[in-house]
Amino acid sequence: MSNVDEIKARLSIEEVVGQYVSMKSAGSNLKGKCPFHAEKTPSFVVSPLRQTYHCFGCGVGGDIFTFIQEIEGLDFKGALKLLADRAGVTLTYESGAKKDDTDTLFSILESVTSYYEQNLKKHKEATAYLTERGLTKATIQAFRIGFAPEGWNGALAHLQKAGFSEKDIERAGLIKKGNRGMYDRFRSRIMFPITDSVGRVVAFSGRIFAQKDDRTGKYINSPETVLYHKSNILYGYDRARQAIRKTNFAILVEGQMDLIMTHQAGYTNTVALSGTALTQEHITLLGRMSQNVVIALDADPAGIASAGKSARAALRAGFDVKIAALPAGEDPADMLARGDIALWRKTIKESQHVVDFLLEYYRLQSKDDRTFKRTVEREVLPYISEIESEIDKSHFIQRVAAQLSVTEEAIRRELAKIHTVAQPEIPREEPGKTHTPLAGAEEELVLMYLWQTSLEKPFVDLVLLKKQIEGVITPVGFSALEARLQNNSEAAFRLELLYTDEISMKLAIDELLQRLDKKSIEREIEQTGAALRKAESEGNREEIAKCEKRYQELLDKRLHLERHL
Ligand code: CTP
Ligand code: MN
Repeated sequence: MSNVDEIKARLSIEEVVGQYVSMKSAGSNLKGKCPFHAEKTPSFVVSPLRQTYHCFGCGVGGDIFTFIQEIEGLDFKGALKLLADRAGVTLTYESGAKKDDTDTLFSILESVTSYYEQNLKKHKEATAYLTERGLTKATIQAFRIGFAPEGWNGALAHLQKAGFSEKDIERAGLIKKGNRGMYDRFRSRIMFPITDSVGRVVAFSGRIFAQKDDRTGKYINSPETVLYHKSNILYGYDRARQAIRKTNFAILVEGQMDLIMTHQAGYTNTVALSGTALTQEHITLLGRMSQNVVIALDADPAGIASAGKSARAALRAGFDVKIAALPAGEDPADMLARGDIALWRKTIKESQHVVDFLLEYYRLQSKDDRTFKRTVEREVLPYISEIESEIDKSHFIQRVAAQLSVTEEAIRRELAKIHTVAQPEIPREEPGKTHTPLAGAEEELVLMYLWQTSLEKPFVDLVLLKKQIEGVITPVGFSALEARLQNNSEAAFRLELLYTDEISMKLAIDELLQRLDKKSIEREIEQTGAALRKAESEGNREEIAKCEKRYQELLDKRLHLERHL
């Protein structure tokens, strides 16, 4: 059986689509609202019989692979990888088929990532620097941060030794041509791997570290390659996607360090622009998970100018755009390195719609009423003209009219003068991965329980939840974890962000329970396998039959569970 067939045998269209669309049965089919276009009455139909979907509203249709390609913004290979992971299928290359070109580049980048990681471990000062900036060991590992050594060809030599050609290494963006041949692009730098939405390394951003000559930038990045298109990669997106969906908003920060620190603090719905402006492709990626974005910015003219561009692009795409204004001179990374989570939380909580934010900002900046009016006309109305929803637009027109004490009609006339440039929709092709770590499922459940008990109005049934948890980790284990995890306000705060209602919480609990269930089944499969081998070596027929039967039962159980994970 081919990988594709194997995956199709294990995953049904109902469950794959069901993770994104809530559907009701309609005869022998299922029906729901189309995730690919906005609609009020459901015209998106899934046929379990044919294992296909079709939208009668916008015409999209296909199988589980095209669905995942579309909804996760992946190419076919990305969708294949995502679904293979979900189905528990190990991807094999068809015998005789040549590994394709991008596979080599992915292998090179993977190999050099490990190389940089190993180098960081050996480099005391670089490690100390990262620790000083507040990164934990676990974070460094999770984000696979590394170090590019000082010499001119460390990475090149490593990769050539691993059997890769100079040409491919160059195509992966890792080396440059100099007078005396090829040399490493990244030298003496802290290395941040940049991943696609399935978590594969496609590029690097390297931060200067103890460099003698300061002529190079603080950060240098991989050039555009076959795998890396700057305009459609958001740093951290692969790790943020699910949280963005769950919290129904994305936080946009400036740099890599900001992203890593916010994730470490539990704000896993954060992505970073890494110094570029928000592109149409970025917006498409985000829009798949949520239409709400909070842009964290330096509240100074430069910060406003750069965030403003992103904000307008997002407004144009129908997003609700808020601004979280950072205190002067601060960035999220520094704030969090100081341990000031409360301030970060406040910054996010107090975020305002971009129009409200600008009105307030310019009111404070303007020396008199007339300046204020003229500034609003020039600086704020363009934002309003971008707002997609007429109702929302009206809302802000009213607000501005009131603030400026002019008529709404006057504002509308001014708006009509603004020429909005329609941005062409750029088709995207890009990779996604939906993996929350398996480890720590027990802890996470107990943390959820503790958080809920601390609430005045818990929104899950505490007695039931405790029982469910004890069903997978024994009452003794539960008490031990409960004692250890008491008063974890950081976790409580992360959960508070993640789960805003009963449904999202229940879904997560079920998923965790099922994972633990699967883990214990896997353990038993192993034990039964061992018992079976022993029985076979002893020629104990009765025992062999018993083990075989149990083994099969367990495999079925696992398959059943996998289908629901
Ligand atoms: N950047 C870049 N090239 C540069 C400078 C910055 O690509 N020469 C990008 C990086 O992604 C960086 C972001 O712009 O993270 C913000 O730049 P800056 O505020 O200067 O850096 P910080 O993120 O504050 O970096 P650090 O905290 O490590 O000093
Ligand atoms: Mn910084």
